[in-house]
Amino acid sequence: MALLNILQFPDPRLKLVAAPIDTFDQEITELAKNMLETLYEAQGVGLAAIQVNVQKRLIVIDITETQKAPLVLINPKLLAQEGKVESDEGCLSFPGVYAKVRRSKTVEIEFYDLLGKKHVLPCEDLLAICVQHEMDHLNGITFYDHLSPLKQTLLRKKLDKLRRKAL
Ligand code: NI
Repeated sequence: MALLNILQFPDPRLKLVAAPIDTFDQEITELAKNMLETLYEAQGVGLAAIQVNVQKRLIVIDITETQKAPLVLINPKLLAQEGKVESDEGCLSFPGVYAKVRRSKTVEIEFYDLLGKKHVLPCEDLLAICVQHEMDHLNGITFYDHLSPLKQTLLRKKLDKLRRKAL
């Protein structure tokens, strides 16, 4: 296993659109394992392959604090969505900043697992938000894109400030 480098906003590669996976091989399993290790190391709840510069439709999620419920979603597709909810979101490509984003309250998705088996998953609460956030990444969209121009400016300023501090 290996830790992967997470692309940081405004890296243009975060805007790429990921391609569907059609071969469920060792390479994909290895990628998922490395992404989970990277997710846990970064103490995040979700990571999309796009964020580690792999343009494939693969997401890893673990919303537990104990890091014991890893979810690997391949070629996820939205089947249904309901309600609205607004919550503070962060992103491993925007470390240290958070912003309120409006999303569907519940979603139902279908996805493939590492063996190529199809599943249907109803999601609510944090899982629903996380799934929508990560599925956006596969289409080159980040939570930043959901913000008003004013809030985008504020978020960028905050990021710049944090980065200057870290130097
Ligand atoms: Ni993200």
